[in-house]
Amino acid sequence: MNDQADQQKHTEFPPTGTLAAPAQGRLLLTNVRPYGEGEPVNVLIEEGSIAAIGADAAAGSGVESDTEGVEVIDGKGAVLLPGLVDMHVHLREPGREDTETIATGSAAAAKGGFTAVFTMANTQPVMDQPVIAESVWFKGQQVGLCDVHPVGSITKGLQGEQLTEFGMMARSEAKVRMFSDDGKCVDNPLLMRRAVEYAKGLDVLLAQHCEDPRLTEGAVAHEGETAAKLGLRGWPRVAEESVVARDAILARDYGNRVHICHASTEGTVELLKWAKSQNIPITAEVTPHHLLLTDERLETYDGVNRVNPPLREERDTVALREALLEGIIDVIATDHAPHGSEDKCCEFEHAKPGMLGLETSLPIVAKIFVESGLADWRFVAKVMSERPAEILKLPGHGRPIAVGEPANLVLVETDSPWTAHGEQMASKAQNTPYEGMEFSTKVATTILRGHVTCRDGVPSAPRNA
Ligand code: DOR
Ligand code: ZN
Repeated sequence: MNDQADQQKHTEFPPTGTLAAPAQGRLLLTNVRPYGEGEPVNVLIEEGSIAAIGADAAAGSGVESDTEGVEVIDGKGAVLLPGLVDMHVHLREPGREDTETIATGSAAAAKGGFTAVFTMANTQPVMDQPVIAESVWFKGQQVGLCDVHPVGSITKGLQGEQLTEFGMMARSEAKVRMFSDDGKCVDNPLLMRRAVEYAKGLDVLLAQHCEDPRLTEGAVAHEGETAAKLGLRGWPRVAEESVVARDAILARDYGNRVHICHASTEGTVELLKWAKSQNIPITAEVTPHHLLLTDERLETYDGVNRVNPPLREERDTVALREALLEGIIDVIATDHAPHGSEDKCCEFEHAKPGMLGLETSLPIVAKIFVESGLADWRFVAKVMSERPAEILKLPGHGRPIAVGEPANLVLVETDSPWTAHGEQMASKAQNTPYEGMEFSTKVATTILRGHVTCRDGVPSAPRNA
């Protein structure tokens, strides 16, 4: 292969030869409202793409004229959004298949309305080599319920000592575009500087778990009144903010993009505001749990509420919500972190940090922003689909709902009450902090390249597994 052809092969993403094929048949969605706007329309999907969009009664739109051999899904007035994209999940395969697998995680993703997820590198073995990333990518395609993109680790074995071969992983069949030691912080400033420089040449995204480990030794809860009252070792805001500030300056001085994982404090918002005002190439995500929950929940000492970074205070949730509305924080990412009951139903200090997120994120976002009137469905499409796809330069996802675009879509029912129960989740784990919580927005149907991956709230069976 000559250099040019080689270059072309390596920049094609995802590699077309390995992508699970689009659906062959035709699918008609009737009575749906794109972005929750206007009168219901019908949407015809052919060979994995949107072929026509027509008003319900519009004769000659081509949508109703020939429905023979077409599978019809009655949307009953549901909101139609682009399929959701989650930049931050932990699907635990390889290594902890007892808590989640690519198959169960993909089912949870489909049930949550996601058509693409990025699964973090803290697997066993760590995702620090092309062969591991490729096996995850291919397995995801084989399951066929969601595009599962592996995230490569920044350092070998997550040891924070030596950088991994970003180039080899980026050029592998998995086409890794994001690198992170998530779960751990790349706290060595020289190593992070080198990572930023290396990533720049390859145009890959570095996602930082901001936590200065010297400030969080033994910490299990946000450092504040609640932790003091409960006798829990506190994790101060400065542990996060000092790394956000440092990495913003590294991004400025060495010129590559840095993404801040799970922003959790008011101060982080202030720093992001400053960095963006300086045109520093920085982006950030916030989790549904940091938008909704506070450290007051720790009063029961239930391990299900332990998470890194920890649940903070009311003023942090307020600042995070405003930052998302203003675009200071770019996206919502779940940090879906399944754990077995032996690691959660134990003393708070011994519980592993992490919460399930995939199956509850859209209802939570709808509750906070749409049902309250703070924002509309366009905003949800932006922060949960379009912006993450844009930040990751991911073609085919987060696209407009328009003729000719790939049919990666989600149908969302409003005024459809349901109660969250861990044991009813598609995820293999049950560690949801929302047990018993009532929501009124529900994911009905998810579509990946024309394939129905979730129907009436039930994820489809894996396609080829
Ligand atoms: O709570 C968390 N759990 N935060 C992380 O950064 C990692 C994650 C995990 O892997 O369980
Ligand atoms: Zn993290």
